[in-house]
Amino acid sequence: MSKRLFVGHSHLSRDKMEVEEAIGKRRAKRAFMKSGIDSKIMGRLVEAIRLSASCFNNQPWKVVLVDEDGPLDELRESLSRGNRWATRAPLIIVVTAERDKDCLLSDRREYFLFDCGLALGQMMLMATSMGLIAHPIAGYRPEVVREVLSIPEDQVIITLVICGHPGNDTSLLSEKQLRDERERPERKPLNESFYLGRWGVPFK
Ligand SMILES: Cc1cc2nc3c(=O)[nH]c(=O)nc-3n(C[C@H](O)[C@H](O)[C@H](O)COP(=O)(O)O)c2cc1C
Repeated sequence: MSKRLFVGHSHLSRDKMEVEEAIGKRRAKRAFMKSGIDSKIMGRLVEAIRLSASCFNNQPWKVVLVDEDGPLDELRESLSRGNRWATRAPLIIVVTAERDKDCLLSDRREYFLFDCGLALGQMMLMATSMGLIAHPIAGYRPEVVREVLSIPEDQVIITLVICGHPGNDTSLLSEKQLRDERERPERKPLNESFYLGRWGVPFK
């Protein structure tokens, strides 16, 4: 089977990227261009979430795409100080889910966050394959987001995904953020997290 990820029309060669290439290129970047994202592109991001796997096919996610100046400005008020860079992005995707609407197994395993993470991972690769930044954040005040978008109380506001075209304006970035912009933050060594056969035997 082909391992190509076809995005959109497969006859357009500029529109294709290997899955492995998208995984390698995906980065939580923070410098954006001003230009917005058109609705067709947003549709493709939405479809990447919609087609994701989920426990019992429950599809627990609710997704609000915010790209208009008024609501965007209000949403920007929710951002933590360290996330001021995100005020420059033309699109914020708010992802919520309701705990009780997803698989709640008897041994207290919950899957609603897992399912949303899977779907967003897929969406972030789709964004990368189209040359976009899709950067999830946890640094915001959920009560402000809830109020601005009238999100019901039973929804957990899981993340805001900050989206846009990559740009050169780094004026709102800290020193560390500038470093991260240039180089991917370091990963733990393989043997710390990956085992082969049984717990503690390093996967080399
Ligand atoms: C759930 C989650 C929350 C995050 N929250 C923030 C955040 O509030 N601010 C920020 O600048 N980056 C945030 N990030 C981005 C991570 O810092 C970034 O993914 C990590 O440093 C690895 O860098 P890379 O994605 O470019 O490989 C978050 C990422 C995830 C998955």
